[in-house]
Amino acid sequence: MSTKVIVVNGPNLGRLGVREPDVYGHQDLETLRRDCTEWGRELGLEVEVRQTDDEAEIIGWMHRAVDEQTPVVMNPAAFTHYSYGLSDAAHMVTDAGLPLMEVHISNPASRDAFRRYSVISPVATGTITGMGFYGYRLALESVAHLLND
Ligand code: DQA
Repeated sequence: MSTKVIVVNGPNLGRLGVREPDVYGHQDLETLRRDCTEWGRELGLEVEVRQTDDEAEIIGWMHRAVDEQTPVVMNPAAFTHYSYGLSDAAHMVTDAGLPLMEVHISNPASRDAFRRYSVISPVATGTITGMGFYGYRLALESVAHLLND
């Protein structure tokens, strides 16, 4: 039986392919969904890719991940930089002993000053930045590694 993993994407990531292609690339969320599903299959993970612009919804997904014992790969997008509510919810995931890998398509540390701090990194299992969509593959590999450890 394969282990379920949710790949959660925050605000404006539904606009991938259209939004700042120089920064985020030319591929859309559907492509990311297909890629993550395929990478998961290779790793024995059943991947479900989600996206929301709604802070309450993404927090609810963290609560459900705890209740259902589901590991998380998360690109919190702009919530990364200011959402203490999401930070607390992400903390509950790692507190429950579940992997939570933070991913950013770009390298926020090399961009605007407000992107240099993440409220998610201190509570995440690990963080991968600046590797484009490939970062999600690295995050899924990390989850598979952690689950096999
Ligand atoms: C992002 C980086 C964030 O600073 C930004 O707000 C995003 C995307 C990334 O994937 O590089 O929306 O998380």
